[in-house]
Amino acid sequence: MEIARLEGATKVYRSGDSDITALSPTYITISGGELVLIIGPSGSGKTTLLSLLGCVIYPTQGKVWLNGTYTDGLSDTAMARLRLNNVGFVFQAFNLIAPLSVEDNVALPLILLGKKSAEAHAAARAALDRLGMSHRLRSLPKMLSGGEQQRVAIARALVSDPPMILCDEPTASLDVASTAIVMNKLKDLAASGKAVIVVTHDQRLIQFADRIIEVTNGTASERTVSQYIKNLESKI
Ligand SMILES: Nc1ncnc2c1ncn2[C@@H]1O[C@H](COP(=O)(O)OP(=O)(O)O)[C@@H](O)[C@H]1O
Ligand SMILES: [Mg+2]
Repeated sequence: MEIARLEGATKVYRSGDSDITALSPTYITISGGELVLIIGPSGSGKTTLLSLLGCVIYPTQGKVWLNGTYTDGLSDTAMARLRLNNVGFVFQAFNLIAPLSVEDNVALPLILLGKKSAEAHAAARAALDRLGMSHRLRSLPKMLSGGEQQRVAIARALVSDPPMILCDEPTASLDVASTAIVMNKLKDLAASGKAVIVVTHDQRLIQFADRIIEVTNGTASERTVSQYIKNLESKI
């Protein structure tokens, strides 16, 4: 099922007198049940593409749909509500709240949405269970390894049960073993029907991808995994 769609979406940033085209016209459809890797060098436009898909920024031109809603003309408040209902975000730096326990961190988005505490905490425990983190409910973030903190951050992104999870360089601060654990968890979520999008500059992550979008100099191109690998081999 389609979750997000860009049709000719572009992003141009104005800095002083000059314009920076962060993303040239892009056509992409994202569906549930797939792990899509957005890969490219630093500054190529990956975060811009992710931000458009997640309705964090408005396109300069072109059209964006999120879960069937056409976003053109939506107010900031309406965009925020659309985002809240449909997208979970995961970042490189985990962004957990230091004085809160693991369970409280994951329950927080639901508390902020006005859910009853008991309901929020039950959902938090269920999300943490999906990520294999049930044994650390009362721990503080600093007591966990980087990989465990990222699994908590993924549980937090998942707690409101959004159809799409967007991850910006989620493994960039992790060692190889934690990277594999985190990527396998994200792959499980995709297999369960979520749309999972992972931005990375790390070619080692292609083994986890169902589909690849390669971003070069603000231009996004669809690749199958085997096309991408063939192209890599031809450059060696
Ligand atoms: N808010 C902004 N204002 C001005 N330029 C920006 C802004 N965000 C990104 N850019 C520029 O757009 C280009 C793409 O950035 P980004 O999408 O963050 O790339 P990546 O995530 O691949 O490193 C870069 O040249 C960057 O400097
Ligand atoms: Mg980036």
